[in-house]
Amino acid sequence: MSKLLITGRQKLEGKTVVQGAKNSALPILAASLLTGGENVIFNCPHLSDVEASSRILRYLGCKVERSSDSLLIKADGIDRFDIPDELMRSTRSSIVFLGAVLARTGRARLSFPGGCEIGLRPIDLHLKALRKMGAEIKEEHGIIECSASSGLKGTKVVLSFPSVGATENIMIAACLAKGTTVITNAAREPEIADLADYLNKCGAEIYGAGEGVIEIVGKHRLYGTHHSIIPDRIVAATLMSCAAVTASEITLSGIISSHLSSIVPVFEESGCVIESKNGELKISSPGRLNSMKTVRTMPYPGFPTDAQALLLASACTAVGTTVFVENIFENRYRHTAELVRMGAQIKTEGKVAIVEGVPMLYGASVEATDLRGAAALVVAGLSAESNTEISGVDYLERGYENLEVILSSLGAKIKKI
Ligand code: EPZ
Repeated sequence: MSKLLITGRQKLEGKTVVQGAKNSALPILAASLLTGGENVIFNCPHLSDVEASSRILRYLGCKVERSSDSLLIKADGIDRFDIPDELMRSTRSSIVFLGAVLARTGRARLSFPGGCEIGLRPIDLHLKALRKMGAEIKEEHGIIECSASSGLKGTKVVLSFPSVGATENIMIAACLAKGTTVITNAAREPEIADLADYLNKCGAEIYGAGEGVIEIVGKHRLYGTHHSIIPDRIVAATLMSCAAVTASEITLSGIISSHLSSIVPVFEESGCVIESKNGELKISSPGRLNSMKTVRTMPYPGFPTDAQALLLASACTAVGTTVFVENIFENRYRHTAELVRMGAQIKTEGKVAIVEGVPMLYGASVEATDLRGAAALVVAGLSAESNTEISGVDYLERGYENLEVILSSLGAKIKKI
């Protein structure tokens, strides 16, 4: 496991481009299984989760070639419908391959995706919907065995929770189903709209993505296309947090400001000044932040759970108390124990974390426990006095493309050891 060494309290300055969105690239890679011909996916970030998904595509018989910022995918040669355990476990989001493999081949065999650091990650909503579309699904000994020998059929699905993954699996499977599928209480995340945009370019007929009701008219075949991934709103929130805690002013380019509409107000509450125009966002920090009062994570367009750890790390040295309520995942405060080692005053009780701002964090040796928790420790290290050593930073590579390189280019004293 590599480590990061950070010397804190270094001002940042300058401009950086925000990478393509991990949570858009992963479902789009899975969806490419539906297509004949060639796909070129531009602005596809270099991440270990993307590498893991590419390995799954190759195992299934696809041709996948990486060039600088794009991936070329040809899915004509698919000759398998099973995904072995070690590939399934290589990325949490591999469950999104289920709908694609089943729709394309009529069968799917994959191991139950384990839970992960932030929660059990059940897939009951995925399976219930696919069964309603006519799939026969057996779950035993940790294996999910699916078949839809006469193909899937369009149906009406009402999700009891607007699950991102379930919405994506159903949308992908429905593209090749017989008839029309309507998803009610669908997830509205921008990554859902990006996936629909890609699929419609492939010849699918999807209406309403990004809203609560999505309609998919099934087709016989889809054809590869060129598509550019939207920018990663959580990476943007991460870089904003780095600037906020170091009394810096930086500019992010290549962003879509509407995707940050529930994140910007929290930074403004803390005293940051933010200006967005023409795909750029400038954030100026007031020095010591004010409390953000209360931050509740909600399905989009509410405040995103993936940004909770980052804003919580920023709140540690704010003036006053900030209350966080994590409504999406059941175990997403693991980074708080490490922040307390750095002098933060945090109490957690179930969904709630209470952060009492302290004047300063001090550098320490800390351990990352999950992807966004690792990023939170980087934010804390940048704001702390003296040196912070973070182990377990392999987690970072799942979602951040060269984060330490980007931060160094903005003036941070950070290096991988
Ligand atoms: C996606 O996970 C993202 N991952 C997560 O990002 C993100 O935190 C999450 O959506 C919420 O926005 C990818 O897109 C690859 P969900 P997903 O299904 O699809 C419950 C990151 O850091 N649920 O919306 O797994 C579930 O337990 C990652 O980039 C069921 O109960 O999220 C959770 O409490 C972390 N049954 C809630 O819904 C189901 O069948 C939200 O899960 C499915 C989900």
